[in-house]
Amino acid sequence: MLVLGIESSCDETALALVDENGVRASVISSQADIHALFGGVVPELASREHARLIGPLCDSLLRQADLGPEPWKAIDYIAVTRGPGLMGSLLVGVAFAKALAMAHDIPLIGIDHLQGHLLAAGLENDILWPALGVLISGGHTHLYRMDGPVDMTVLGKTLDDAAGEACDKFAKAAGLPYPGGALLDALGRKGQADPHLFPRPYTHNDNLDFSFSGLKTAGALWLSQHPEARFPAGDTPAKERLEMADKTLCDAAASYLLAIAETLAIKAERAMARFEARSIVVAGGVAANSVVRETFSRLAEKRRIPLLIPKLSLCGDNAVMIAEAGLHMARADRVHTLSLSAIPRGQSIPQDWHVL
Ligand code: KG4
Ligand code: ZN
Repeated sequence: MLVLGIESSCDETALALVDENGVRASVISSQADIHALFGGVVPELASREHARLIGPLCDSLLRQADLGPEPWKAIDYIAVTRGPGLMGSLLVGVAFAKALAMAHDIPLIGIDHLQGHLLAAGLENDILWPALGVLISGGHTHLYRMDGPVDMTVLGKTLDDAAGEACDKFAKAAGLPYPGGALLDALGRKGQADPHLFPRPYTHNDNLDFSFSGLKTAGALWLSQHPEARFPAGDTPAKERLEMADKTLCDAAASYLLAIAETLAIKAERAMARFEARSIVVAGGVAANSVVRETFSRLAEKRRIPLLIPKLSLCGDNAVMIAEAGLHMARADRVHTLSLSAIPRGQSIPQDWHVL
């Protein structure tokens, strides 16, 4: 069963072909350089770039996969991210997927982007069910009970900023270029974390939700009190400037990331007190973070269950995870009609599939 996955929810245009044996072909184009000029994703520019790139990227995917003279006959399903994401960006992928589905008479499957992130962890190792899912990206921070690849329940989520947003805002306020998360990680690796410098926000309660806005404020306050710690400005690549970064800034970055990772781990542990998780899945862009990885591997070790994190190249947005999620939907005989809707951030994804 060969599934074409299409991802265009934010600033990556990506397509991939995945079957039961894994990835057959994958292409991705990031718009990060364009949005860096504005310090964040500009939705109008993002959708225009998706519209410009999606066709040529599809051609190069098919060339890479080498499916013979009639490639579309080899593709069994088309899976596309339907949300959550930027509406204009999502619509490019969804409209493209619908056009292909109709032209080539291939069943269409709409995918929840967040569930796609989590399922990427199952590509290399088997997820043991039920699993605790920790989805940490630029726009979302969700805890899931995962009973199976198409059976997930949200246990808690952020009430304000996402973990990635908290990283990006601290990075931006410190003078790091966009997107700041990965650079903040590199900065933190050069420093020594002080566990008392920043709070573990919104943990003195008994729920499974998050609130990172207070931590963001604490970070901004610390930065305003330490103007000397600002990341060196200049035209040289950020990686070179990293070598000249102030030691106190490196320490603060390490402390800030530890606060985020430990806050996530506190709520993850609390979630696992409510059901017997047989594995922990950590996914989304922030799953690339080294402090998050270390903190969760200690937690998994303590509970004697496996920790599954997608490989680095599959932590950020990609189409492999969408095709993989599509494969699971197809196995469950779930498909959508051409009336599949795109769902913007903040709205829940409807369970409006049809059983084949
Ligand atoms: O999942 P993703 O690629 O896009 C969304 O769906 O949001 O996540 C992007 C987020 C950004 O906030 C980015 O700064 C963050 O993931 N990120 C990191 C690291 N790599 C990416 N945050 C902390 N440490 C990293 N190494
Ligand atoms: Zn994402």
